[in-house]
Amino acid sequence: MKIKEFSAYLPRPATLKVKKELSELVTLFEFENDSGRPLMHKPGQFIMLSVYGVGEAPFSVSSAPIRESNNFELAVRKIGAVTGIMHDLKVGDKVGIRGPYGSFFPIQKFVGQDTLFIAGGLGYIPLRSLLHYQLKHRDEFGRIILLVGTRNPKERIFIDQLAELASGKDVEVLETVDVPDETWKGHCGVITTLIPKVRIDPDKTNVAMVGPPIMYKFCLGECLKIGIPSNRIYVSLERKMKCGLGKCGHCQINHLNACIEGPVFQYNQIESVEEAI
Ligand SMILES: Cc1cc2nc3c(=O)[nH]c(=O)nc-3n(C[C@H](O)[C@H](O)[C@H](O)COP(=O)(O)OP(=O)(O)OC[C@H]3O[C@@H](n4cnc5c(N)ncnc54)[C@H](O)[C@@H]3O)c2cc1C
Ligand code: FES
Repeated sequence: MKIKEFSAYLPRPATLKVKKELSELVTLFEFENDSGRPLMHKPGQFIMLSVYGVGEAPFSVSSAPIRESNNFELAVRKIGAVTGIMHDLKVGDKVGIRGPYGSFFPIQKFVGQDTLFIAGGLGYIPLRSLLHYQLKHRDEFGRIILLVGTRNPKERIFIDQLAELASGKDVEVLETVDVPDETWKGHCGVITTLIPKVRIDPDKTNVAMVGPPIMYKFCLGECLKIGIPSNRIYVSLERKMKCGLGKCGHCQINHLNACIEGPVFQYNQIESVEEAI
C-alpha cells in the first residue's frame, strides 16, 4: 500500500536537545524539528507528542514563537505512561510531533495594552510563550503584570527565570504559595489574594489566565469585580485529547471542541457554556 506523503495523523520526527529538571516532577524539554523548519506555533497552542511504541499526549508549547529557530520547548509533569517515559528520554532521542493545534492568545489585540498574567501551577507553561513573545517585543506592549501561584515552594517551576524577571523592570512579578515551608519568605495564600494588590486600568488591560479549574472559579470573579470585562479575559481549558483535529470528540465541552475552538477561549465565549468552567 502506498503511504500518503502527508497525513495530519502522521507524526514528524524531532530530536531531544536539552533536558532540565524544573521541580521533582516537572522537566523542561527542548526539541529540534528534524525537518529543519520552525514549529510556527502561536502562544497558547499545543502539539501532540508521541513517544514511539508508548503513546501520544498533548502539551502546550512553552517557548515563544521564533521564526529563525527549529527548536521549541515543552515543560512536562510526570503523571502517567507518556509523560513517565518522556522523563527517561536522553539527549539525542527521537519523538514524534503533530501540530501546532488549537486557538491562541490574540497577540495583536494585546498590542499597546497592559497584560495581567494569572498563572496557577503548570498554567505558567503556556503563558510563558506569550510572556516571552511580549518581552522580545517589549516596546509594543504596555505594563506586564505577572501573578504566579503554586501549591507549595517545592512545586515552583522556572524559579531562576522568575527571580530574574522580578529583579528587572520589564515585568511586575507577584508570587504566592498556598502552603509555605521553612524556606519560603514570600507571600502566602491562594493566587486570588494577589489580584487586589495590583492597580490596573480595566479599560486597557487584557487578562491571560491559565491554571487548575478551581482557580478559574475564583479568579474570574475577582477579575470581573475589579472591572475587567469578560471579553478582555482569556483562559485556556485542558480536556482529554486524542486527535487534536476536531474528529474524535474526546475533548468536547458541550458543543465546543477544546482542540479546535480552544484551548484558549475568550471568557465571554464560554461564560454561559455548561461544564466549561
Ligand atoms: C491542550 C493541553 C495542553 C497541555 N499542556 C501540558 C503541558 O504543557 N505540560 C504538562 O505536563 N501537561 C500538559 N497537559 C496535560 C498532559 O497532556 C497530560 O498530563 C498527559 O496527557 C498525560 O499523559 P500520560 O500518558 O503520561 O498519562 P496517562 O497514562 O494517560 O494518565 C495517567 C493517570 O493520570 C491521569 N491524568 C492524565 N492527565 C492528567 C492531568 N492533566 N491532570 C491530572 N491527572 C491526569 C489520568 O486520568 C490517569 O489516571 C496538557 C493537556 C492539554 C489538553
Ligand atoms: S481531540 Fe479529537 S475532537 Fe478534539
